[in-house]
Order: sequence, then C-alpha cells, then structure tokens
Amino acid sequence: MDVVEALSRRRSCRGYVARPVPPETVERLLALASRSASNANSQPWQVHVVTGAAKRRLTADLLAAFDADDRGRDYDYQPTDWPEPFRARRREFGDRLYGEALGIGRHDAARRLAHHRRNYDFFGAPVGMILTVSRSPRQGALVDAGLFLQAFMLAAGALGLDTCAQASLIDFSAVLRRNLRIPDEQLIVCGLSLGYGDGDHLSTRCRTARLPVSSFTTFHHDEDEYCEA
Ligand SMILES: Cc1cc2nc3c(=O)[nH]c(=O)nc-3n(C[C@H](O)[C@H](O)[C@H](O)COP(=O)(O)O)c2cc1C
Repeated sequence: MDVVEALSRRRSCRGYVARPVPPETVERLLALASRSASNANSQPWQVHVVTGAAKRRLTADLLAAFDADDRGRDYDYQPTDWPEPFRARRREFGDRLYGEALGIGRHDAARRLAHHRRNYDFFGAPVGMILTVSRSPRQGALVDAGLFLQAFMLAAGALGLDTCAQASLIDFSAVLRRNLRIPDEQLIVCGLSLGYGDGDHLSTRCRTARLPVSSFTTFHHDEDEYCEA
C-alpha cells in the first residue's frame, strides 16, 4: 500500500476483534514512525505500549478514575468552550458518530457516556499506547509528536491494522503516570489504540467528511507565474 492509499484508508477505529498484534509488528511500526521529521532531529517522543495484564491493570485504574470523575491533564487538548466554526464541525461529528452510526440520540447522556467510557479499554484493542514528549523542547515537541502519531497510524494502516488516536486518555494523567511510571519531565500528549478493526462494529458506519482544499488554502501567485520557480 502506498502513502496515498494509506491516507485515504485511515479512519478512526472504535471497535476491534480479539486478534493479537505480534510484538515484532508493533516494534516495526514504532521504528517506521520514528522516521518522522522532528526539530533538529531531537526525536522528543517516548512511547508506552500496554498489552495483556498491564493493559487490563491500566484500564481498571482509568475506569475507576473516570467513574469517580477524578480528572487532571498535563495540557488542554480540548477547548473548554468551542468557538465557531469548530463548534459546528464538532456537533456534526457527534451526530455522525453517536446519531447515525451508534444510534444514540443527542440527549441520551447515559448511552453517550457509556460509549465514551470505552475509550478507557482502548475500544477493546489488544494494544494500547501512550505518547509523551520531553517538556524541555517546549511546545514545538507537540508538533513533532503529531507527526509521529500520524506516521504510526499510516504505517499501521499499510499493514492492515487499525488505530484510533485518543486524547481522552490524557484526562487522567495521574493514573497514567503512576501506572506507567512516567516522570514529571514528560508531557503526556495522547493515547492510541491499535489492532484489527471489527468491520461489524456499529461505529464503522461513522464516515467523516472533509472541507474542500479551497476552504483552508490561499494560493499567493500572479495568474501567469504559477508554474515558475
Ligand atoms: C489527537 C487526536 C485525539 C483524538 N482523541 C479521540 C478520543 O479520545 N476518542 C475518540 O473516539 N476519537 C478521538 N480522535 C479521533 C477524532 O475524533 C477523529 O480523528 C475525527 O473525528 C476524524 O475522523 P477520522 O479519524 O475517522 O477521519 C482523536 C483524534 C486526534 C487526531
């Protein structure tokens, strides 16, 4: 599969089959993702991979913190108040995932919460990951982490695997820190699930759309100069 195909195929997977991912495959994906560009090749990322009993222990602790609403994160990935036009896009995404795919109404808070809770068992994926970066290169390291995450997801897709980036996991940074022995110097950036997607899971009906290129791009050139260097 080439990069164009991998980009077109990738979508967030929120339901997995119980098929293990060999450790060599995870390691290969990590090695590929580490080919990502980073500021002065600083490679500020660290990755924690949880499987088996370690994943079950982490999930149990995360769910206990979720149920107790015992939250705390290293940085605000989620805005507290979404401004337009992002609020409308978020609402549309919610309608597609919860309404169209999962059949959960906008006001059915209990079922929405139950679906959200599944983030903490990595949607049943056999592999969970937590990505952190060193705090010392400052905010630039977050850009590098994003590149790493995207590269990992594309490489996984190319090998027939599915993924979901999961910022919801970082809402419980104390649990992650304690469980995975993550030092304070590391900023907890994002989680990720990895496995073989369950094609029958209702969430696979969720198809997200994209705005046209013209809506987010401004080309600066004179009419007759476009092809000139
Ligand atoms: C950094 C990041 C964090 C995300 N966190 C979550 C999450 O916690 N739970 C979840 O279900 N989806 C999460 N997503 C998936 C987005 O909802 C998804 O990428 C978006 O709706 C576009 O859909 P697509 O990935 O299927 O193209 C996250 C995506 C990114 C890039």
